[in-house]
Amino acid sequence: MVLQIEPLDSKRHDRANFSCGKDSLDTYIHKQASQDLKKKAATVFVLVDAPATEVLAYYTLSSYVVDTERLDDAFAKSLPRYPRLPATLLGRLAVDQSHKGKHLGELMLINALKKALIASEYIGSLALITEAIDVEAVSFYQKYGFQIFKNQPLKLYLPMKSIAQLITS
Ligand SMILES: CC(C)(COP(=O)(O)OP(=O)(O)OC[C@H]1O[C@@H](n2cnc3c(N)ncnc32)[C@H](O)[C@@H]1OP(=O)(O)O)[C@@H](O)C(=O)NCCC(=O)NCCS
Repeated sequence: MVLQIEPLDSKRHDRANFSCGKDSLDTYIHKQASQDLKKKAATVFVLVDAPATEVLAYYTLSSYVVDTERLDDAFAKSLPRYPRLPATLLGRLAVDQSHKGKHLGELMLINALKKALIASEYIGSLALITEAIDVEAVSFYQKYGFQIFKNQPLKLYLPMKSIAQLITS
């Protein structure tokens, strides 16, 4: 058995019993993810313990636009003077409850950061953005250096430069 992160294959990956404890995230992987994938609204990556096909965790990535005035001043000052700039959205990240606390959330987050960084070499993106589902999730992201948007306490960002440092450290 080996942990593998794979693009969601709706015919092969078994996600019927996935449960992270947050209804919206569970319903998404049960019912919506394959539609988003088909329509290219998001890419969806799942963690399996191969050759088993049961989904243990998942995340989604999409393109995004950031309002630069909502970023902190120090970061905003380092950016081109456009009101809106390109970014990458980590739309969802969830680990099945029976596998929490085994650093699978971290494994998935680092994998998403690596993909976002590689993609930014081809399509401009200044940061990875995420919307935490609650304040607990905010603390999780802050552990990895994510900053909170001005006046949006559940929305966070990590600049691509910080991602590059985090991945090579
Ligand atoms: C948040 C979530 C993804 C974390 O996944 P996990 O596999 O349980 O967490 P990990 O084992 O990878 O934890 C990595 C580190 O973050 C810490 N951590 C985990 N959850 C945390 C939280 N809610 N707040 C603060 N720190 C947290 C762990 O203690 C660990 O720290 P350590 O390296 O010092 O030991 C998972 O609990 C989950 O799916 N929650 C429900 C959905 C959710 O909140 N998704 C994220 C936002 S949309």
